[in-house]
Amino acid sequence: MNEVTRAIAEFIAGETGQPVEEAEKGIEIPRDPQWGDYAFPCFTLAKVKRKAPHLIAQEIARKFQPGKLLSECIPESAYLNFRIRREAWAEIILRKVFSEGEDYGRSAEGKGKTVLVEFSSPNIAKPFHVGHLRSTIIGHSLGEIFERLGYPVVRLNHLGDWGKQFGEVITGFKHWGSPDELEAQPLKHLFEVYSRFHAESEAQPSLHEEARSWFKKLEEGDSEARRLWGRFREISIGEFKRLYRFLGVSFDSYDGESFYQDRLAELVERLRESGLLVESQGAWIIPLEAYELPPALILKKDEATLYLTRDIAAAEYRFQRWNFEKLIYVVGAPQKLHFQQLFKVLELMGYDWNRRMVHVDFGHILGMSTRRGEVVFLQDVIDEAVARAERVIEERGEDKEARIGKIPEGERKTIARAVGLGAIIFNDLRTRRSKDVEFDWDRILGFEGATGPYCQNAHVRCCGIMRKFGGTVTEEADFSVLSSDEEFDLIKRVGELPGVTRRAAEEHEPSVIANYMLDLAMALNVFLARHRVLGEEPRMTRARVLLIHGVKVVLAACLRMLGMEVLERM
Ligand code: ARG
Repeated sequence: MNEVTRAIAEFIAGETGQPVEEAEKGIEIPRDPQWGDYAFPCFTLAKVKRKAPHLIAQEIARKFQPGKLLSECIPESAYLNFRIRREAWAEIILRKVFSEGEDYGRSAEGKGKTVLVEFSSPNIAKPFHVGHLRSTIIGHSLGEIFERLGYPVVRLNHLGDWGKQFGEVITGFKHWGSPDELEAQPLKHLFEVYSRFHAESEAQPSLHEEARSWFKKLEEGDSEARRLWGRFREISIGEFKRLYRFLGVSFDSYDGESFYQDRLAELVERLRESGLLVESQGAWIIPLEAYELPPALILKKDEATLYLTRDIAAAEYRFQRWNFEKLIYVVGAPQKLHFQQLFKVLELMGYDWNRRMVHVDFGHILGMSTRRGEVVFLQDVIDEAVARAERVIEERGEDKEARIGKIPEGERKTIARAVGLGAIIFNDLRTRRSKDVEFDWDRILGFEGATGPYCQNAHVRCCGIMRKFGGTVTEEADFSVLSSDEEFDLIKRVGELPGVTRRAAEEHEPSVIANYMLDLAMALNVFLARHRVLGEEPRMTRARVLLIHGVKVVLAACLRMLGMEVLERM
């Protein structure tokens, strides 16, 4: 993982005969640095060697010889606690960050292995709800993380642009729609029309008949039905794209459910021929009870295909087109069963690449509402975040103005936008994704707690120091002066970026990055509260500036991987 863990692993491997990679996996960072900079628990070895772990620890420690990087190895019950030579580590890490700059922490391990990330995937004419927002935030971040590891990333938006609800939308639009409203606010207007359909059809069941016939026409390619559907789709994508641009998110493809429509007949035929398809009460299913799953419904009684059928076609198409190493579906936990069925069906079809697919699920956001109430339109959330961030920044602004000078109005707006969005994104990504997320406007926008603004501000503090320093940063420094606990803590953390990035990718878990970034920001603030960078003797200042530069590079890399904006002032 890094030079130190390598050195530790080589030592342990040499003493025990364990492979180096194996030993390296066992290395931990103790919660409290008083136990050492790195630790190696001996429990696994104890099992293999049938000996008490503390005896093994003592035995190995006796063989330790201090080296270039490691100064101590102390046995402490079942653990071996190692200490790093601070000066040597500071030099290796800070020089590396300095020379690699923005590329620090990148790797080429993913070269040539395409990763598909399917995320966001809202439905046309239904609200873009908070689940879609979470999917957008998590999926975007995963894309950035894999990209930093060198994987070619393809971003897919599997739009919900087909299905019988389009019969209802068309019917609604025919009765109550307004072309002008559709132009002005497509997402809202289509949702209004769709909601009205549901309200009115309770008293007027004939509307359902109408909707069914519109959908049938649509499936049969009737020109008016197609034209309306196409218009709804196009204009909605336009509005989605505006929102995504604002979030800094983009997609390589918007091919949604409708895209697979003309592959379905052939797919169903193949499933029938292979004997997988079974008739059940007029519908066609693939029984999955042998795998403790409900049957996969492929074709309804009325011959209509389903969400799942389209997902099977989509998976086949994607594999043929991209020969992916991994296909990630970022979709909420309520669809867990759906993806289990999908993966199982693909396996039964004889594909082994179903193992390259992962459902990256996530919990709910609790308490996100705007003035309009619980149905969340993304635009409303964004507007509210920006308005609130503007107020927060203004309130903090007065005493800041004296220090950094007045920030021009235009830049203030940009900052407010970045802070508002950053607050929402960080709040979402700091919790492990399977957990529910609490959403509270006041808390997420605070500059003091574990928040997005707090992390963005840590980067701003680094920039402020560099600005005031004014000189050129060089890698020539006397590393021996960076010897305090606070400095060493920062250096160790900076050194962890590559490993942390890899772990986030392996676990499909942006929270790994978010928490790492937060801890680094906190460590920076502790350091700055206890030490001065500028105005010390030149040797000291020069070394500390190089350290601050390193912290700044890493904070920026983390912010980008999370999809948050990197600010220089705020
Ligand atoms: N449009 C779906 C929804 O809003 C999400 C699509 C998820 N992706 C998939 N391949 N099924 O619930």
